[in-house]
Amino acid sequence: MRFTVALDGPAAAGKGTIGRAVAAHFGFAHLDTGLLYRAVGVQAMQDGRGVIDPDWAGEIARRLKPEDLGREGLRTRIAGQAASKVAALPEVRQALLAFQRDFARREGGAVLDGRDIGTVICPAAEAKLFVTASDEVRAQRRWKEEGGEYAAVLADLRARDRRDAERTDAPMVAAADAVLLDTSDLSIDAAVAEAVAHVQSRFDAVRG
Ligand code: CDP
Repeated sequence: MRFTVALDGPAAAGKGTIGRAVAAHFGFAHLDTGLLYRAVGVQAMQDGRGVIDPDWAGEIARRLKPEDLGREGLRTRIAGQAASKVAALPEVRQALLAFQRDFARREGGAVLDGRDIGTVICPAAEAKLFVTASDEVRAQRRWKEEGGEYAAVLADLRARDRRDAERTDAPMVAAADAVLLDTSDLSIDAAVAEAVAHVQSRFDAVRG
């Protein structure tokens, strides 16, 4: 059985939490695709001593191994910015494409969260959700997780969203057939329940 759930949307909208919960509910595998870009971004920054060389970033992406996704420091704000810089490079996106496509179509069902899952990685995904929330709500959530200065967290999110939405290769955009899920005023449980209900309805429609 192949069934793909594509979860896209801007930073800190709740994709990760929703993705893990939906995967657990249906017994599907889950891939946080942001981790791929974070791993490449952090490595490229380290190797370039703060400057990203596009050719080298492509090479890092081609050599990426599953264990690289478990490295420390991938969740930091700096790693997020590095990720969105390498994510704008076509050679990096190309190198990460096959792994994500294979994961999406694996036997037993898969949930992928990211920016371009429903548009580029798996346009044929059986269920697509575009998860959003207001800038302020998303910044509040990140600020509670990370601490630091709220204004800096908000500015960081906005900078990253702008870079992700404005790049030419696979920009962050809702697929035409994605369902919009705005989590601004929803609890985690309510957001998960809405996502599960949508996936269930698509599952019933496809599996008849
Ligand atoms: O967790 P958060 O929403 O803050 O970010 P993430 O999902 O870990 O993604 C980090 C960065 O990777 C994003 O800002 C994007 O630039 C990039 N990314 C992407 O371009 N395409 C994806 N499918 C996933 C992430």
